Amino acid sequence: MYNSSRMKSVQSPIIPVVGELIRSNPGTISLGQGVAYYGPPQQAIEAIQTFLANPENHKYKLVQGIPELLKVIEQKLETENGITLDGRRIVVTAGANMGFMNAVLAITDPGDQIILQLPYYFNHEMAVVIADCKAVCVPTDDDYQLQPEAIAAAITGRTRAVVTISPNNPTGAVYRESDLRQVNEICRRSGIYHISDEAYEYFTYDGARHFSPGSIDGSGRHTISLFSLSKAYGFASWRIGWMVIPEQLYMPIKKIQDTILICPPVISQWAAVGAMKAGRQYCRDKMQMTTEIRQIFLDEVAGIADLVTVPRADGAFYFLLRVHEDLDPMELVRQLIERHKVAVIPGMTFGMEDKCYLRVAYGALHKDTAAEGIGRLVKGLKQILTT
Ligand SMILES: Cc1ncc(COP(=O)(O)O)c(C=O)c1O
Repeated sequence: MYNSSRMKSVQSPIIPVVGELIRSNPGTISLGQGVAYYGPPQQAIEAIQTFLANPENHKYKLVQGIPELLKVIEQKLETENGITLDGRRIVVTAGANMGFMNAVLAITDPGDQIILQLPYYFNHEMAVVIADCKAVCVPTDDDYQLQPEAIAAAITGRTRAVVTISPNNPTGAVYRESDLRQVNEICRRSGIYHISDEAYEYFTYDGARHFSPGSIDGSGRHTISLFSLSKAYGFASWRIGWMVIPEQLYMPIKKIQDTILICPPVISQWAAVGAMKAGRQYCRDKMQMTTEIRQIFLDEVAGIADLVTVPRADGAFYFLLRVHEDLDPMELVRQLIERHKVAVIPGMTFGMEDKCYLRVAYGALHKDTAAEGIGRLVKGLKQILTT
């Protein structure tokens, strides 16, 4: 039987491999999972009654999303992000990952190139390869910040888009507004798209501010903005996100989404209407604990500054540690799990092959396990890296 050679060239996610190691080492505390520790607000659960009250809701609904949710999103974009629709459309998706796949399929032909920042979010790289395109990786700087000149230099006649994620997974970096403006302008000048993934928009610390490139004057025709309820509203399994797209992509994206999904799950869309009534304050309250945990991590890891570097990370709920010793990161992860009962994700998952990197995710932690987990990581690194 023939299997797609294209799919063979798609990387296999390392996260399930780490998951298997965790399962075979009971009692391991995971600093691997990129999810929030909490679930949806009560308003989301209550809104399900609205869904259930109307039997018509069990039928297929509009490809682009139910009008009630589209309206709430439009208001949110205007007041929080400074994005007005004017020549743009919103398409509700089954999460931001789906928004990214829709975007790549809508703007590329096989053999085209998409510029990703290194380290990349692995599902973005996988989506590009699945679409038979090439991911061109541009390194970020020592603080994992954008290098707009390097991005401009990487653009060729086959480039169709530049992707930025801010706040970033896997680094936690919040990109500077000036750099995002510069990248958006480079895209405009080059006649290519700027795909801006803003799944972590609410997760910023120490006064860092999130900026939406879609709010830039004149960005409407070449900017694709991706959002998600997964992190902010503890909605990961409900599968709701949305994309803001230029008018010219509306029909192509409706064709893709109609074929793959028909419509986003309507029960989840109603729950999303409820969640967004609770609004950003819901996430803000929940973030108090995550902010404290982040500080515990920073305090603890300062004690091993001779062994690992922690570049500045004012957003999301990640740190990407640079280990000074040149070790195989997967072997280091294995030792941390087997000998110290703490799990992190190796850097090659995010395309970082040059040195030894480890991603620490702290969003899923509760206060009671956080100190223990972080303590094990720091003690484990100290032991492994000094013997
Ligand atoms: C940058 C980024 N984009 C998108 C996603 C996926 O979001 P969703 O659950 O909305 O598909 C993730 C999840 O980890 C992410 O880190």
